[in-house]
Amino acid sequence: MTGSFITFEGGEGAGKSTQVKRLAAALQAKGIAVVTTREPGGSPGAEKIRALLVNGAPGRWDALTETLLVYAARADHVGRTIGPALLADKWVLCDRFTDSTYAYQGAGRGLARETIRRVDAVVLDDFKPDLTLILDLDVGTGLARAGNRGAAESRFENFDRDFHERLRQAFLETARRNPDRCIVIDAAQAEEDVATAIWAAVARRFGL
Ligand code: TMP
Repeated sequence: MTGSFITFEGGEGAGKSTQVKRLAAALQAKGIAVVTTREPGGSPGAEKIRALLVNGAPGRWDALTETLLVYAARADHVGRTIGPALLADKWVLCDRFTDSTYAYQGAGRGLARETIRRVDAVVLDDFKPDLTLILDLDVGTGLARAGNRGAAESRFENFDRDFHERLRQAFLETARRNPDRCIVIDAAQAEEDVATAIWAAVARRFGL
């Protein structure tokens, strides 16, 4: 037996980090041991790589280099944080994971899906989340919310509007391709209602 692995996905400003915290609290109230983490990052080495990805000019990396940096961070994160937690029977809630790479580096930056799939196979073999919650929100609202957080870590926010529209469609496409793993949540609702929808999905999926 291992713990369960739940990921949160979506464009900029969808409210993922707030909902990760809320779901962690709800699971802990049921006596479940939870680790919350994020990508890129989630281990000391991966957090160093995160700084290279989320700061600076949009064009600072080409799409392949960016993908390799993302997967270097992911290898460290899975090896040192996610894997050990799951083996210790903890549940892991992760703010972004592989679906973000297909959206941002694939649909956003134009790297071929097959290239990402091959890198993924080398790094993760067949490791996937048990459940992925895709927080869907219109791009204008999301970018406005994200902009209010200030200029730090804003490299991806600074790609053009079309880039962000492609991300939204890519996440919805991921949900269509993986109906057993993914659930789309309407993130335009009030925070409380988003949390309720997430809890309903998690309770149903894991029989809580
Ligand atoms: P955050 O703003 O949700 O913390 O995520 C940091 C940024 O990293 C976000 O703009 C999306 C980007 N990102 C990718 O481009 N590819 C990935 O695989 C991941 C996990 C994140």
